[in-house]
Amino acid sequence: MKALVIGGGGREHALVWGLARSASVTEVFAAPGNPGIESLARCVPVDVKDPDAIAGVADAVDADLVVVGPEEPLVRGAVDAVTARGRLAFGPSASGAQLEGSKRWMKELLAGAGVPTAAHASFGVGNEDAALAFLETLDRLYVIKTDGLAAGKGVVVTESIDEAADAVRAYLSGEAFGDAGRTVVIEEGLRGPELSLLVVCNGDADAAVPLAPAQDFKRIGDGDTGPNTGGMGAYSPVPAAGPHLIEQVMATSVLPTLHALEREGVSYRGVLYAGLMLTPDGPKVIEYNVRFGDPECEVIIPRLSNDLGELCRASASGDPLPAIGFSDEARVTVVLASEHYPATPRTGDVISGLDAAERRDDVLVFHAGTARAPDGSIVTAGGRVLAVTGTGATIDHARAAAYDAAAGISWPGMQYRSDIARDAAAG
Ligand code: AMP
Ligand code: GLY
Repeated sequence: MKALVIGGGGREHALVWGLARSASVTEVFAAPGNPGIESLARCVPVDVKDPDAIAGVADAVDADLVVVGPEEPLVRGAVDAVTARGRLAFGPSASGAQLEGSKRWMKELLAGAGVPTAAHASFGVGNEDAALAFLETLDRLYVIKTDGLAAGKGVVVTESIDEAADAVRAYLSGEAFGDAGRTVVIEEGLRGPELSLLVVCNGDADAAVPLAPAQDFKRIGDGDTGPNTGGMGAYSPVPAAGPHLIEQVMATSVLPTLHALEREGVSYRGVLYAGLMLTPDGPKVIEYNVRFGDPECEVIIPRLSNDLGELCRASASGDPLPAIGFSDEARVTVVLASEHYPATPRTGDVISGLDAAERRDDVLVFHAGTARAPDGSIVTAGGRVLAVTGTGATIDHARAAAYDAAAGISWPGMQYRSDIARDAAAG
């Protein structure tokens, strides 16, 4: 089977890595890919925002299976475009991707299905006064979200009602996120540790199977301080998330959501990613994503003992899913980011120390935002630049490997958190 991965970040590098190791896969292509992916797959340029262009690349390389990494092509209908041409595509149709494409739609679906989630209300342009009045009803922790996609940056979580009100005004005016923010979702703030549970679906709600849980670190700074990012690190397994908790989340959240989607006429395929908060009142869904998490993918895929190509093929074609297996080893990913990320990352700096890290056998280095300069050197090309994944028998060992490798990599202004998986390693 020839597999084509759409996207060019750390998640897609991990997916390409997993597919390249799959016995079911004879050749891997990536569009557009990145310099790290180039060593495992043939990279082809594509505009990932254009579903027809994606389907065109699938035709050009004669892909048997297209695995779509990021949310934007999914929301824009990449899976629909590829399947319309008679090829298999892993991921939800545009109708299923609405779960991530419109937070308002998602929250209404969850409320209708009785899924535990934060209390919320949505407001459009012209309803600023009602939005500000709703803020007053909340208790000290305010969450403001854009309805539409905002590259992981459209969420403000604050204890300051003034800051919350400023965000509401900036979103509704279109100043902050353009049309994506002209409808805002305001939520009560939940407290507790977060957990990412990614579930593989084949269109039959009752057949959905969870992958190993992972924990992500959303804030830029140590101790969960500073603004939210796309994710600064992750680890798996998660000692706090045993089989009982997973069963509970499947029963109270994931299955009711998939059944509610079925009632809306959506037969969901691909990955359904439940972002959860483990509150004192039990696990609650913060959000759904319609794709692998990044950097969760960089810890989950290396632990997966299944043939990734076969798992994606079964999901995409609606066949029975295989029993899922994970190695006992731990994986910890530390994201190395550019100076000034997440605001305006500085790019174009030469990365040094990469070869030595890539040669280690206790580390995988996934490229997230890199480019090849004309002289062949690898330079920074985005906010999140590299995802360094360590492995070990324990979280502590995996963490030590990741941090040891990270310490050997540098460029001007490079930043990373020093506390990824620290508490889990100590516990
Ligand atoms: P989202 O894009 O909806 O996942 O939100 C990004 C991040 O904002 C989450 O991972 C949480 O850290 C935080 N967040 C979102 N919703 C809430 C909430 N209702 N209460 C507390 N934190 C939240
Ligand atoms: N790591 C969070 C996300 O992928 O949305």
